[in-house]
Order: sequence, then structure tokens, then C-alpha cells
Amino acid sequence: MCGIVGYTGMHSAAPVLLDGLSKLEYRGYDSAGIAVRDGENRSEVIKAKGRLKKLVEKTNGGDSVPGTCGIGHTRWATHGEPSENNAHPHMSDDGNVVAVHNGIIENYQELKDKLIRKGYTFYSETDTEVAVKLVDYYYKKYEGTPVDALTHAMVRIRGSYALAIMFKEYPEEIYVARKDSPMILGVENGESYIASDVPAILKYTRNVYYIGNLEMARVRKGEITFFNLDGDEVEKQPKVIEWDAEAAEKAGFEHFMIKEIHEQPKAVADTLNSVLHDGMIDLNDVGLSEEEIRNISQIYIVACGSAYHVGMAAQYVLEDLARIPVRVELASEFRYRKPLLDKNGLAIIISQSGETADSLAALREAKAKGVRTLGIVNVIGSSIAREADNVFYTLAGPEISVATTKAYSTQLIASYLLAIQFAKVREEITQEQYDGMIAELQTLPEKIQKIIDDKERLQWFASKQVNAKDIFFIGRGIDYAISMEGSLKMKEISYIHSEAYAAGELKHGTISLIEDGTLVIGCLTQPNLYEKTVSNMVECKSRGAYLMGLTTYGNYNIEDTADFVTYIPKTDPHFATSLAVVPLQLMGYYASVAKGLDVDKPRNLAKSVTVE
Ligand code: F6R
Repeated sequence: MCGIVGYTGMHSAAPVLLDGLSKLEYRGYDSAGIAVRDGENRSEVIKAKGRLKKLVEKTNGGDSVPGTCGIGHTRWATHGEPSENNAHPHMSDDGNVVAVHNGIIENYQELKDKLIRKGYTFYSETDTEVAVKLVDYYYKKYEGTPVDALTHAMVRIRGSYALAIMFKEYPEEIYVARKDSPMILGVENGESYIASDVPAILKYTRNVYYIGNLEMARVRKGEITFFNLDGDEVEKQPKVIEWDAEAAEKAGFEHFMIKEIHEQPKAVADTLNSVLHDGMIDLNDVGLSEEEIRNISQIYIVACGSAYHVGMAAQYVLEDLARIPVRVELASEFRYRKPLLDKNGLAIIISQSGETADSLAALREAKAKGVRTLGIVNVIGSSIAREADNVFYTLAGPEISVATTKAYSTQLIASYLLAIQFAKVREEITQEQYDGMIAELQTLPEKIQKIIDDKERLQWFASKQVNAKDIFFIGRGIDYAISMEGSLKMKEISYIHSEAYAAGELKHGTISLIEDGTLVIGCLTQPNLYEKTVSNMVECKSRGAYLMGLTTYGNYNIEDTADFVTYIPKTDPHFATSLAVVPLQLMGYYASVAKGLDVDKPRNLAKSVTVE
């Protein structure tokens, strides 16, 4: 949600900034802008509404903007419509302070009123302009350093921010301030970089610093100094990022989404292998001891969007295998519900980015209530990873497409591994069952690959759905969780309205929406619920629905009922989500492609939702 980059070094800054922004465009694509300064001169600010390519054209690929120090931004609009005027960077009235911002300043109106009283004028509707002018105000008032001005501003600002700021009197320097919005900094060979996310600077450096909450940084060529809110220096060690740069490129695929779908067998295998040693699950790196596992009274899974759907599937697996009561909740609800939490409970926060504002707030709520927290997180060093008591890192690598696929798949694997290990430690399963499940998990990458290899048939079917008005996904138990993710994948990238329903629930209202030709997709991976869901599909068919069945090889009698069938390899029903989701990802992808839509950057969306 909004992407920030910054560079100071020996090279021309604008091309580096534009290149970095191109890796962050998934975070917002309403407008983009850069500010670059050349020596003592004031920053030159160039902005363009719309996609980054407009800015690239306007700056001739950056060649027309001289200077070796600069900041850049790609915007997902919060305050103020998408327009060139509201695009970042924003600047003070005299143009001496220039900044880009990611986050939301909650008390911006109050601060704006104060600044107007002090004689400031405003040209945009953004909260960022208020932040810049507040910093400018304190900079002038106390006549101190940029760090002094920032500390004063940070004390006054409520909300979340990652700010990158340049001051005219400090050429070749960028100042950074952060609270609850992501920001990383990197140094290599006398050059320094800042970015909202790793892919933007991976090409230039792997040595990355994570700036903490309510901390600041002074970024000079090849030298970064961190400060706390008192203005005192803070020591930090860089972390080495293992992701390779190609992982953040399309590698010949038409879109990141299809590339990431293809990466699922590897991502799943990597995540499995990270905790499987000699055929046993080893949670030492996660940091949960057997005694702690035995004492868990209740599990609270909290997440947003697809990660919440992982939680829905995990709930069935954890309860069934480990016999621990599980409650799954949307983070945006959990955080304001004043939840009653058992002190011996375990809160599992699932998040690809590790920065989702609601999930982070939910984690803090659980911690504040004295409950142990475990993050299932993909981005190393992200806020949730840093703040959770324990972290299970998924090894999906960088996920660029806004619609998640491979991160979702690895989150599922993490939750199965936890469920199996909890079940074993709590003596709910035998050694034989344990070994059998681990062996089955190890077959999943190959089975996922088999589904991907058969993608053309789904492409054909999905491209026939482009004129569909509504699509319904139905299933029971784990199949309901699968339906939820299938429906989200379809609607978010193809813009075809779709709903997921617990199959038995349809006749309590929603069935009235079924008309002649309405596509109903029945998920049928759970043997004990198969007949029940087939009956619900038949109920829809008798009201005119066109039926697709998604089931395992062997269930061929579904062809007597469904008009189109897709089969997945057999697996332990607990793990069926990992296979069944793949055809549904492909359906959403191909429907979007057939409609000629921007698959990787669906309208109104952004990856990593760092505002609530
Ligand atoms: C949908 C999707 C979103 C995310 C959600 C949570 O395809 O990607 O629903 O799952 O925004 O994001 P993270 O996992 O980063 O917390």
C-alpha cells in the first residue's frame, strides 16, 4: 500500500528510483512521482497520474532528471483522489523540505488547522502534505537538525507512517521516520537505498537494515545512522536477504500471477523442508517447546483476506488432528471486539507481508492480553515477524502479484505442520499416522505440479465464463474453506461477482439468486461430505444452474450431475485445500486474462494493506 524508494550515491538517482518503483508498483498504482536533487540545488519534483510508465515517459526513463540523491513514490490513494496534485512527493511552502509517505496520519485535520493558523497554505488534499509541513514547521521553529525536527513531528503525529524526507540544507542526505508502516534500508559500495519492500533494492544490495517503530535514520552515501525518539543513536546490524533477484522478475511468464502459480510446487517443498528433518517435524526454529504445545488450551487464528481463508482450512485440520478448540477471526473484527482470550491460548497471526495493519493490531491486542503469539509470515524482518513471540517463516519467496497464490499455499503447509506436530505431542495421533501424514505432505509438490500441467483445459473453461454475472462456490467443511478462496480469486481479478457458501446454507436464502445458466462450482474433496454437497448441487441444477464439480480422481460418478468436472489427485482429505485451490487459482487467472484485465494489479487493490 504505497511504495517508497530512495537512493543516494554516485550514480544518477532517477533511473534507480524508477527501477525500484517498478518493483513496488503492486503496492499502489494511482499515481507516481520522484524528487531528485543535484548538489546544492532544490529538489526537482516530477509526478504523473496513473501507472508508473507515465512517469517513466515524462522523465525520459529518468535521463532528463539530473542528480544523485532522490526519493520516489507509487501511490494507493487514501486521503484525496488519485491526481497529479495529490501524488507524492509533497513539499513545504518554500520547497526546502520534500517527502514521500506511506501510511495514514489520523489527526491530519487537527495538525492542518494548527499549521494554517501558523500561516501555512495547502495545495493538495493529502495527509502527507500536512506531515511535510509539520516537519518544516518544527525545523524552522527550533532551528535544529532534521532529526530534531522529526522527533518533534513524530510526537505530534497519530497514525502510521514511513516517511522519506530531503532537506535543502542537507544535500545528498535522506531522512527516514517510521511507525507501523514498512521500510527497509540497504548499503552497498558507497551507495545507500531505502524501500518499502525488498524486491525494490534486491538488484543493488542484499544487506538490509530494518528500522524499528518510532525510529529515524539519516541516510548518507554508503552510511546509515539510526536514532530513537530521543534523538540518540541506535546501533543496528544488517541482515542478509537470501532471495535471489530473478525471483522478483517475470522470467518469461506473461504475468507474475501465473509465474507464482507455477512456483507453488517449489514454495511448498521449500516450506516443508525447512522444518522436516529426518522425516520428523522440528519446530526448534519456530521456538515452541513440547511443554508449551501441551499447555495450549485454545487457538485463535487471526488474519485478513486469503490468509483468513488459510485459517478457515487450518481450523478444521487443527481441531480434527490436535483436538484443540480453534477460533478463526478476521483481524479487522478481532482488534475492536475486546476479545476474551484465555491466557493459555495461542494466537496465530497469518500474513504474507507481515505488515497488514489489522493483523498487526490483532497481534498487539493478543500480546497485550498476555496471550502467546505465533506469526506465520513470509517477509523476513516484517513487523509481525518481529513482534510475534514465535515465527514460522513460509518460504514462498517474493510474491509480486496482488492476488496471492504461492504465499497462500505455503501458509497452508505451515498450518498442517503445526497441526500434525501438536497432534503428536498431545498424543492424539499414533506414530504410524504421523509418519503417514508427513509422507503424504511430501507428495503435495508433485501433485500440485500435475494440476498445473493440465491447465489448458481450465483455460478453455474459464475463458467461457467471461460474461458470467455471478458465480457461486459451494462446499462443506474444508471444502467450504476452499470455496472461500476460490471465490475471492475469481472476483478480485476477473471482476465477476462471486460468492462462497457453505453448501448446506444456500437454501436459507441465496438459492433465490440461481437463474438459468448461473455457474455453481461444487467443491467435493471431503469423502464424508461428498454426497451431501452433490445433493446441494442438484438443488441448484433443478433451478437452472450450470454445474462444475471439483473433486478427486475416482469420483467419476460426479459426471452424472455436473456439466464440467475438474479432478485433482487423491490426498489425505486434511490436505485437500492445497490441491483443490490450484484449479481455482487458474480459473480466476484465465477468466481475468480472457477479459483483458490487468491480472497482477486489479483495480482499487494493493498488496500489503498497511492501513486499516
Ligand atoms: C487476496 C490477497 C489478500 C491478502 C490479505 C492479507 O488475493 O492477497 O486478501 O491475503 O490482504 O495480506 P497479508 O497476508 O499480507 O497479511
